[in-house]
Parts: sequence; structure tokens; C-alpha cells
Amino acid sequence: MKKDIVITKAIEDRWREAQQFEKGFAKSTISSGDDWNRWWKDKFDDYNILRWRTFPNVLETGCGPHTNVRFILPIIHFKNLYLEDPLIELYIKTYEKRFLRFFKKEHETNVSKLVRRYNAVVTEKKLEDLPFQSGTIDLLVCINVLDHVFDFHRCMDQMCRVLKRGGILIIGQDLSNEEDKSLCPESWDDIGHPIKLDENTISDKLRLFKPWMFKILSREEGRNPTSHYGTYLFIGEKAEK
Ligand SMILES: C[S@@+](CC[C@H](N)C(=O)[O-])C[C@H]1O[C@@H](n2cnc3c(N)ncnc32)[C@H](O)[C@@H]1O
Repeated sequence: MKKDIVITKAIEDRWREAQQFEKGFAKSTISSGDDWNRWWKDKFDDYNILRWRTFPNVLETGCGPHTNVRFILPIIHFKNLYLEDPLIELYIKTYEKRFLRFFKKEHETNVSKLVRRYNAVVTEKKLEDLPFQSGTIDLLVCINVLDHVFDFHRCMDQMCRVLKRGGILIIGQDLSNEEDKSLCPESWDDIGHPIKLDENTISDKLRLFKPWMFKILSREEGRNPTSHYGTYLFIGEKAEK
């Protein structure tokens, strides 16, 4: 991939515009209860590699209104849950869904259910400014987030910093390359995704991790074959320096 195809840092205004889009998107899909989280679960083999292991401190970054960690918590032992997303306060609110024009129905988001059920600690800070002490997190989930952020490198550095040595990182990410740009130029300019990443850019940041599971799905196996040449699936352990 040519260097100018990978975009790892957005202009601040561009990121804010993407977040504005994200707000509208969340509101329109909130009652569906899922944003491809079941699809990711399936691709990660139901997270079976983590089954019945103990992770005292669990963090999902860019957790969205539905979260991916909701499928992991029932199969692991954990003590504390942390949820991070710049829009989390909005996501926690109970939404009203109108039906038959006149009637309204209360709808509680998955993230709100997790906060209530597990007394989760939430933060609106950006992933670039993760407000956790170094070496404190045992399991960190980051799925479908890294092409939405402001600064990819800073996000990766922050996630590595807060993880304990031996801690587990889960990354799920759509990948982009030159072929995508010519197949689907409109996806390149789409408001929601200011960052464009290929597999080498991500793998470079994961050099210190020992993979437990690593796959790149083909274009055809991905969520959106026209826009993404592949999908990055990674579960790995933070190793010694
Ligand atoms: C497509 S949604 C995915 C949400 C969730 N990970 C999921 O799979 O359902 C992307 C999320 O990333 C969040 N996000 C965008 N920029 C971020 C940043 N700099 N730090 C942390 N999260 C960010 C957005 O607010 C949004 O909730």
C-alpha cells in the first residue's frame, strides 16, 4: 500500500464531523440493539479462547451504544468493568422510540444495561487520552473503532500503556487499500471514517504482542466487500519488552 493511502491522523474538524455523523447514526439504529457485534462475535469464534479465564479489570474502548464486551462478560471471570467512548453519556440515555406515529416506547441501550448491572465505570475521554493508570487493565476490547478515531498511533500507544504485561488485547478492524479506493471512491470520502488502515500499519503496532488468534478475512468474507479488502482479527497477549 502506498504511504499516502494510509491515513493515521485526522484533522480535528474532520474528526468532529465524523462524531456528529456517529451521533445521528446511533440515534437511528439504537433500538436495533446491535451494530454488527454478533457478526464480530461469530468471526472471533464466540471469543471461546477466553472462556472461563480470569480478567479482573476489563475495558472496552469506543464501546458504542451496544458494546462487544456484552458477549464476553458471561464467559469469563471479572471484577471491574470500564467503558470508554466520547459519546458514552449520550449512549447511556434511555431512548424513546415512536411507533404508530403517536405512541412512544422507552428503550434502554445495551451500554446502559451494562452500567446498571455491573456498576461499570464510564469515561467520555477520547481513546487518545485514556484516563487509566499504566499496567492496570487485564482485558481490552477495541472493535470497529480505529478508523473512527482522531490519531491511530496515539490510540494504540495508550491501549498498550494501560494493559498489564500478560494482559489481552482484542482488535477487530476493517482494512483499506488502493484497490478499495478505485473500487469504491465514495467510501474513501465517507464522513464516518476519517482514518484508513491496512494490515501492516496495525501489525507494526502489535509487535510486542504474542498472538493467541490472528486472521485476516478476505474481501468476500468481510462486512462490506465493496469498501474493504480485508478484516483484521487479533487476540494477543502483551509480552515482555
Ligand atoms: C462504529 S462505532 C462502533 C462502536 C462499538 N465498538 C461497536 O462495535 O459496536 C465507533 C465508535 O468509536 C467511537 N470513537 C470515535 N472516535 C473515538 C476516539 N477518538 N476515542 C474513542 N472512541 C472513539 C465513536 O464515538 C463510536 O461510538
